[in-house]
Amino acid sequence: VNMRRKLVAGNWKMNGSLVANAALLAEIKAGLAVAACDIAICAPAPYFAQCQAELAGSAIAWGGQDVSAHAGGAYTGEVAVSMLQDFACRYVIVGHSERRAYHAESDGLVAQKALRALLAGVTPIVCVGETLVEREAGQTDAVVGRQLAAVLDVLDAADLARIVVAYEPVWAIGTGKTATPQMAQDVHLALRAMLAGKNPTAAVEVKILYGGSMKPDNAAELLAMPDIDGGLIGGAALKAVDFLAIVAAAR
Ligand code: G3P
Repeated sequence: VNMRRKLVAGNWKMNGSLVANAALLAEIKAGLAVAACDIAICAPAPYFAQCQAELAGSAIAWGGQDVSAHAGGAYTGEVAVSMLQDFACRYVIVGHSERRAYHAESDGLVAQKALRALLAGVTPIVCVGETLVEREAGQTDAVVGRQLAAVLDVLDAADLARIVVAYEPVWAIGTGKTATPQMAQDVHLALRAMLAGKNPTAAVEVKILYGGSMKPDNAAELLAMPDIDGGLIGGAALKAVDFLAIVAAAR
């Protein structure tokens, strides 16, 4: 049995409004029993202030869904890690497959974003995952390995324990198709072996989350696998009862 505390992180994606968020956060806070896991909500940047106001002092941390690779300056539309820090964001997702696919983010850019967050003390949640075509071609380990290697290349071995990895098979995101617990476990184990190649001690500590149609009815069996250390939750994070049920399943 490992000592990793699980992390359940909601990724709201481009959903929400001041009114809807207020209701969702209030319902989550009201329903939260003493949690046996870490909890976070990754919100759109315009709602960082609201998350901070509603969640400060609670057991729920908050964070962003992307960050610039640059420290600041003439980068229209981007959000700097210093701006996340102004609102006490503890986490930031980098390299989500939607960023990779719709915004052409390369492995190298994702690595720079992860490094930028890490050096500022914001925990990057580094997403990796294969498409259906890649899985069917037997390339899953090669693809996630290439994605993770780009990040490992730019990190100091001493900093490795300060990242979170999320395995999100692209074909399972928002589709209702979940990887079986064993399919996910196999990839998580391969990812942990790669981490161990960089720093064996830290590899034991790094949380590897699963993401892709994690719901109340499949969370417990996924989270029971030895190398699945939590979840990155999309759709189910938008419903308080579902999010709370997944949090309750993480122990
Ligand atoms: O980042 C979480 C995500 O991509 C999974 O989304 O809706 O399949 O839980 P969903």
